Amino acid sequence: MQDVLVFGASGYSGLELLRVLNRHPARVVGVSSSKWRGEPVRDRVPEWSEGLAFRDHDALLADARAGQFAFLATPADVSLELAPTLLEKGLRVLDLSGAFRLESSQDYQSWYGFSHPREDLLAEAHYGLFEWFPIRDPDQIRLVAVPGCYATAAALAVAPLLMHGAMDPARPIMMDGKSGTTGAGRKADERLSFSEVAENLRPYRVGKHQHTPEIERTLGRLLRGHSPRVSFAAHLVPMRRGLIVSAYGSATEGATGTVIESAYARAYEHSCFVRPLKEPPETLPVRGSNFATVFAVLDERTRTISAFAAIDNLVKGAAGQAVQNLNALLRLPEDTGLRGFIREGL
Ligand SMILES: NC(=O)c1ccc[n+]([C@@H]2O[C@H](COP(=O)([O-])OP(=O)(O)OC[C@H]3O[C@@H](n4cnc5c(N)ncnc54)[C@H](OP(=O)(O)O)[C@@H]3O)[C@@H](O)[C@H]2O)c1
Repeated sequence: MQDVLVFGASGYSGLELLRVLNRHPARVVGVSSSKWRGEPVRDRVPEWSEGLAFRDHDALLADARAGQFAFLATPADVSLELAPTLLEKGLRVLDLSGAFRLESSQDYQSWYGFSHPREDLLAEAHYGLFEWFPIRDPDQIRLVAVPGCYATAAALAVAPLLMHGAMDPARPIMMDGKSGTTGAGRKADERLSFSEVAENLRPYRVGKHQHTPEIERTLGRLLRGHSPRVSFAAHLVPMRRGLIVSAYGSATEGATGTVIESAYARAYEHSCFVRPLKEPPETLPVRGSNFATVFAVLDERTRTISAFAAIDNLVKGAAGQAVQNLNALLRLPEDTGLRGFIREGL
């Protein structure tokens, strides 16, 4: 029985983590939230089985013990403070924020707007896109950077096509992400109010979304440095959860429908959670689950490949993927706690 802590348990992804961990053999011994401190977890997650209450972040940090695992479902600047302290105390950390996903301090200045003080931890962090970077030596890993939601879907959709020679890495890939409102977190924001979001479709952070360098880094690592340039536009969709990335890249001379199909089949043959489809994916069938569905098609007329991936941003895009990595660190089956559908709801 492994003891785990969840910092930021009142947020959308933190709450989803509690739902997943409630079905998991690990034992949650501490959860933090300032606004819900003192409240029983069961008041917010009715199926919660044991008596545990939310605690202040600082109190949980003070009681953190060597040997425990800590999930950080906190904003990047908060994770940046918490992770080094927890590592120094001898815990292992799975961070859901973007604080440890990029390569250099300069990347953080350009895309997150702050200077990253811990290049050593950027070099050390394992990027937890499980399907492409499985954990082979769990004892060597202290810090997992859980991938971003858009970055997960983007890589699942296009990596097989690039790796198996169907999509041309020398040409830019246009990507278009569409996400439900939980992707922006629980915090109040006028632009996220019902009147602003309902019956509306809004592009945002076009050309400057922080998942862009993360996607390029992932593809660059898989292609050993020959990363395509990615142009990414995110969109806010009037639904609560779910996300689709649509990617458009140039086909190679050898690309055919059969090559595309076999690229996906080979890449995800043994995957617990990624399902290649025969038609474009939708968000509803994967909602509340750790599944990802992918599909690609060649447009012969323009020699363009359109590739798609659908996930639930809070599960495969956050809590579920974090637990996939926990399972690897604990040498448990990859789908422990993640089988079927996690309870739906916010
Ligand atoms: N939402 C998604 O779809 C998604 C997907 C992938 C990754 N992520 C990442 O996961 C992280 C959490 O996202 P979210 O959407 O769940 O956010 P959220 O709903 O806004 O929740 C943020 C959480 O952080 C806590 N927090 C705030 N200040 C803190 C501090 N100083 N110390 C410790 N905890 C603090 C909040 O707790 P109190 O307010 O109760 O104190 C709350 O529990 C972010 O880094 C986000 O980028 C989110």
